[in-house]
Amino acid sequence: MQAFTYLSPTEVVFGKDTQCRTADYVSKYGGHRVLVVYGGSSVQKSGLLEQVCRLLDAAGLPYQTFGGAKPNPTLNHAQDGIRAAIEFQADFILAVGGGSAIDTAKAIAIGTANPAVDIWEYWSGQSVPAAALPVGVILTISAAGSETSNSAVLTNLATGSKRGLSSDLNRPKFAIMNPELTYTLPVYQVACGVTDIMMHTLDRYFNPLDNELTDAIAEALLRTVIASGRVAIGDTHDYDAMSELMWAGSLSHNGLTGLGGQPDFAVHQLGHELSAMFDTAHGASLATVWGSWARYVCKTRTARFTRYAKNVWGLENADETALALAGIRATEEYFRSIGMPTSFGENNDVGVQPDEVVLDLAYRCSFQRTRTIGSFQRLDEKDIAQIYKNANH
Ligand code: NZQ
Ligand code: ZN
Repeated sequence: MQAFTYLSPTEVVFGKDTQCRTADYVSKYGGHRVLVVYGGSSVQKSGLLEQVCRLLDAAGLPYQTFGGAKPNPTLNHAQDGIRAAIEFQADFILAVGGGSAIDTAKAIAIGTANPAVDIWEYWSGQSVPAAALPVGVILTISAAGSETSNSAVLTNLATGSKRGLSSDLNRPKFAIMNPELTYTLPVYQVACGVTDIMMHTLDRYFNPLDNELTDAIAEALLRTVIASGRVAIGDTHDYDAMSELMWAGSLSHNGLTGLGGQPDFAVHQLGHELSAMFDTAHGASLATVWGSWARYVCKTRTARFTRYAKNVWGLENADETALALAGIRATEEYFRSIGMPTSFGENNDVGVQPDEVVLDLAYRCSFQRTRTIGSFQRLDEKDIAQIYKNANH
């Protein structure tokens, strides 16, 4: 087991009606003037935004709303939010929504605390932020895990690049998680969320090291998400299934399922380029390339893939290679069964691409040939291009 530190300081407030306690938690974590950050119209349609505003009013907490975070949220929009927060003299950022609203809130929190810095300097790795305003979350979709993660992902439309910033400053102070708030999700978004939750665990599970407890936690989480995902796709109002997904979403991306290992995250890097170029939903971008990645790397450590096939999918086969491939096939069949694409051609936002586009994706994913990705198997631009090519049908 590799040495690690584990910090997961977010106070999780889980269960029905927990959003009613929003104002108490804002005050508990030092908020006096609140910028309420949300995405599109879903929180208006559901009445959640209005409820939150009423609660802040009743508690005497001045607030201003800032909507418009799009899926794959942009740097420009976050910069508008920073200006709004500074003008309003906000001292607390409250995200109401999913990963896109939460990541925008995190970016605003960092930008407002460092007003002299262009925040892309942080997201592009040129410098490291030293301060952020506190962020609280009311979660409406089980997917990105941003409600407890140390990460925030932004797309820079000017450069066409999608980048994450990992910093403990990004850990929200609290996350209010009422599974009933996810009942209004379109089935496609539930499926994207299920995929992303699985992938946060798979991108840690497929790594060069074995760690019995961590691996067993990861397998249990995967089995639970697969089963609950099936139920949730059939009925988004199933409280138990939506609860399991919500809790799994947080645990899959707060670090727990990778402790002691060397997280890989190659599939996330491959997916980010697809989202940056084609604006495809994050979960769908991951399903599009996972099978191609898995087949490309499975010879590196077949035993890890056979363990996965046995413990997650309940498969058996005396032939190691056949068993490993059966586990990969089972994963892809599951993705298709919940409406997720498993190739460029199945992804309506992407489609089958000419070779030059595939090569450009690989060039971008290698950060213009300045990095490799992955730890399970280290992948350079040539490997990345082959993985994209194998998914391009
Ligand atoms: O924008 P609105 O109108 O709210 O609609 C959203 C959006 O269209 C809708 N939605 C959310 N809750 C709903 C709802 N519709 C009806 N009822 C509800 N209760 O769902 C759509 C997707 O929302 P979004 O916030 O984009 O989803 P998600 O949580 O999947 O976030 C995706 C973003 O997070 C990033 C992704 O790259 C992507 O940009 N990630 C962030 C991570 C992190 N910060 O740790 C890690 C992830 O790996 C990921 O990269
Ligand atoms: Zn993800």
